[in-house]
Amino acid sequence: MKSILIAIAILTALLLAVIVFKDGEKYEHDVNEHRAYAAQCTAQIGPLPDFSCSDGALVPVTVNGETPEAYTPNMNCDRPALLNNGAHSDGQCVPYSRILDLSTDSMQAVAMCRQKRIRAADSLQYDELDVISHNPATGATCWFSADAKNPDEPLNGQQVPSPTAVYDVTFWNSPSVVAKDGCGNCHDNDPFMYSPFVGQVWQHVPVNPLGAYFHVAPEMGFSTWPTTAMNLRDNTCLGCHRIGVNKTCSSLTEWLTGIKKPEGADQQALHFPLSHGMPPNHDLSKRAWNTIYAESVEQIRSCCENNSQSMCRLSPIPAHPQGPITSKAATTVRP
Ligand code: HEC
Ligand code: HEC
Repeated sequence: MKSILIAIAILTALLLAVIVFKDGEKYEHDVNEHRAYAAQCTAQIGPLPDFSCSDGALVPVTVNGETPEAYTPNMNCDRPALLNNGAHSDGQCVPYSRILDLSTDSMQAVAMCRQKRIRAADSLQYDELDVISHNPATGATCWFSADAKNPDEPLNGQQVPSPTAVYDVTFWNSPSVVAKDGCGNCHDNDPFMYSPFVGQVWQHVPVNPLGAYFHVAPEMGFSTWPTTAMNLRDNTCLGCHRIGVNKTCSSLTEWLTGIKKPEGADQQALHFPLSHGMPPNHDLSKRAWNTIYAESVEQIRSCCENNSQSMCRLSPIPAHPQGPITSKAATTVRP
């Protein structure tokens, strides 16, 4: 009996040792990967600073044009966030997210401190932090995100460590986790994303709608993100920016042209002109909008369904990789 117990004890100890070793190995892998990504992003785009979400602009949430007296879970609003906040959130009309422009002379960068739960107006605790950094000269783009482990353990947005300086992986997700998250499936035409929600603080979001665009460190999983655009002839939607072959031509186009109702939309959101978020702040009658854009939208949707039609004229989004670190998959150069 005793020897059986000893054997069990030894086996348990061995198992624990293996788990701890594996965890240590994973931690070390994450640290190395993070370090390598941070180094490539710094070399190709530039270092990001530490920042505080408190310096960011609050994204308003209004109902029929007014700030409601109280916010309630799963309420509707005029400009719901288009990125789904997920099953355990308070819906698409959660107030007090913030946007912070971190751009410099040579780098475009933006941080979003996302509230998915209703918290106090002055709360600096967040459910998700996202950062995009972009070099407009080459198109090099890096992606960073951090998630609260659970809703009761939100992230401290008061003192956020620079995503390119931390060599500790406890705050920012590791690059392969970010790659699996598929940021580029939605941000598929250019780095920065417009929606009526962020459009309210648009002066804090950098833009580069027609510039070169590619993802740094394809070997870490970013090569799976789409970088193809459609080049429809005489299409009035393509005058200001590209449309990609993933979410910008599907759900995003549908939500921004009144074809589908975004989750959390109130009466005002469903009513023209707010129902037609593209082009931003247009001053058109519905009849004029249809005359100018309806056919172009149908072409986009048709190419989204089946992009092998010749009218879609797909082409890779231009990229100009250069700098000390050049990576293989980033060679889709189209001058
Ligand atoms: C399902 C589509 C989708 C995915 C996936 C996605 N985003 Fe976004 N992102 C959006 C939309 C839509 C907005 C505009 C805000 C809104 O309405 O929610 C946005 C806004 C942002 C912003 C604010 C600045 C801007 O461009 O408007 C940042 C920063 C950002 N996303 C980073 C990321 C990062 C980092 C990831 C991956 C970890 C990611 N996004 C994944 C759809 C997406
Ligand atoms: C007058 C200029 C203009 C026209 C015309 C226009 N858009 Fe946009 N659109 C913008 C701007 C500006 C943005 C945000 C900047 C950017 O692309 O980075 C944007 C963003 C978008 C986005 C979100 C992806 C992103 O990169 O932010 C979609 C989807 C979109 N437009 C679809 C359309 C569709 C469909 C039409 C035609 C009905 C259209 N747009 C016509 C100016 C325009």
